[in-house]
Amino acid sequence: MRKPFVAGNWKMSTDSHSSVALAEAIVADVSDAAGQRVDVAVFPPFLYLQAVCKAFNSSHIALGAQDIYFEQNGAFTGEISASMVKEIGCTYALCGHSERRHVIGEGDELVNRKVVAALSGGLLPILCVGELIKERQSSKTSEVVTRQTKAGLAGLSAEKVSGVTIAYEPVWAIGTGLTATPQQAQEAHAMIRNLVVEMYDEKLGEEIRILYGGSVKPGNAAELMAERDIDGLLVGGASLKAEDFLAIIRAAA
Ligand code: PGA
Repeated sequence: MRKPFVAGNWKMSTDSHSSVALAEAIVADVSDAAGQRVDVAVFPPFLYLQAVCKAFNSSHIALGAQDIYFEQNGAFTGEISASMVKEIGCTYALCGHSERRHVIGEGDELVNRKVVAALSGGLLPILCVGELIKERQSSKTSEVVTRQTKAGLAGLSAEKVSGVTIAYEPVWAIGTGLTATPQQAQEAHAMIRNLVVEMYDEKLGEEIRILYGGSVKPGNAAELMAERDIDGLLVGGASLKAEDFLAIIRAAA
């Protein structure tokens, strides 16, 4: 059985005060039964990781970085490495989030280097994949998601991939209020799981967690989670309100 996983991506939306306030509000309420049945992680801006880590104290909520560079240290002005965020308490790193791919311009090869670097720096990467609206409209969803998944995992053994989570996030559903229907999401998730079976084996395909992301809200979380191959949710906007994020965690439990 795959344990449900709910992740909150705060993007560039919190400041020092609101990061700590949000963390405190989540931790105050999450330690009920729902919180134990679900793996929960939040991804604050880099600057506030330490303050949020302190606010989480000994709770079971994990911390993640929204991005990392693919080298562990050296002359890479402005970059942050896996080992740096690991040292200050991070467990996870997002790799290839659609805003990194489509706003910043990261390609498949760079995303793969980041997945590899996350693992070698001791982090658990969340590899994000997903198609643009024009790709869906021209029936290219499967082709794009297959390419991104294969490229993202390139060169990794099954043992390494057992530390990876995949997030299917159709780009047209991110921050737009448009959510993929549970059927559309399930179809993409099943396709990704089959691909992992094809690339590795049945066991890894059954074990790997695949999260859905794109306008997840308290009102649609339960129906998405009811699908066979949806193992969790990557939440942007709705993770900025403790009440909504907690409701999503409860829906996933
Ligand atoms: P959203 O963002 O929930 O605001 O659509 C999801 C994401 O970018 O991970």
